[in-house]
Amino acid sequence: MRVSINTIKEMKAKKEKIVMLTAYDYSTAKLVDEAGIPLILVGDSLGMVILGYDSTIPVTMDDMIHHTKAVARGTKQAIVVGDMPFMTYHSEPDALKNAARFMQEGGAQAIKLEGGVTVAETVKRIVDCGIPVMGHIGLTPQSVHQLGGHRVQGKTPEAAQRLLKDAQALEQAGAFAVVLELVPATLSKLISEKISIPTIGIGAGPDCDGQVQVIADLLGLFSDFVPKHAKQYAKLAVSIKAALGDYISEVKAGQFPTSANSSTMDESLLEELAHA
Ligand code: KIV
Repeated sequence: MRVSINTIKEMKAKKEKIVMLTAYDYSTAKLVDEAGIPLILVGDSLGMVILGYDSTIPVTMDDMIHHTKAVARGTKQAIVVGDMPFMTYHSEPDALKNAARFMQEGGAQAIKLEGGVTVAETVKRIVDCGIPVMGHIGLTPQSVHQLGGHRVQGKTPEAAQRLLKDAQALEQAGAFAVVLELVPATLSKLISEKISIPTIGIGAGPDCDGQVQVIADLLGLFSDFVPKHAKQYAKLAVSIKAALGDYISEVKAGQFPTSANSSTMDESLLEELAHA
C-alpha cells in the first residue's frame, strides 16, 4: 500500500526521521521504492541531472510530466512528489492547471513548489482542491539569479526571521511538509521546532525532521563534483566507466559474446542455405 501524507506527518510527531530522494525514471524509481524510501521527488533538478542544462530554469511542464509518469510506473509504495517548474505556478489558474496535470497525467500523489509567504495563497488554493503540497524555502534554485548564486540563506537576523515566517505561512496554508535548502543548521532546528509539519532538509543540518538528496549526488554519478551538502554512498561513475571499459575490451578481443550469449539452429538448414 502507498504511504500517505498523514503517515509522513505522524513521523514527525513520533520523531522518526523521514527519508526522501529524487528519481527521474522508471528503473531508478523502482529501486528507490523497493528500498522503502517513502517520498520520491521528481525534482526539477532533472534539468541538470538528466537533461544537461546548467540550471532548473529551462525545465518545462512537459519535461516534468514525461519523467513523473515514468517514476510513477516504477513505484508501488512511495509518495511521488512532482516539482512545479519555473513560472508554472505564479498565476492561480496556471498553478491549479499545472498541479492537476501532475496528478492526472503524471500519476503523482503530491506536488512541490518554491516560495513561502508569497506563494501561501496559491498553496492554500491547491490544497483546497485536494492536492497535497510540499513547500520549499531557503535556497530556491528557480530564483538563483535573484538570490545571487547558490548561497546559504537566512544568515542575517532579518533573513532568518523571513524564513521562519515563510515556513509558518506554508504550514498555515496547509502544506504537508517543507523543504529547507541551504539553511544554517541552528536555524533549521528552530524552524523545525516552531512548525508542526515536517521539515525536510538539504544542506540544512541534522535537526530537520527528514533529509532529501539528489540521487546522482548520493550514488556518485558525476565523479567530478560532490556538493558540500551531499555524501556519496557509492561511486557509480567509477563503476560504470570500469564496466564500459571491460565491455569495449571484450568486444574488441572477441571475448564477448560467447556461445553462452548466443543461440543455435539446425545445421542442415545452414548447409542448404550455403549451397543455394
Ligand atoms: O529539484 C530538486 O531536486 C529539489 C531538491 C533539491 C529538494 O528541489
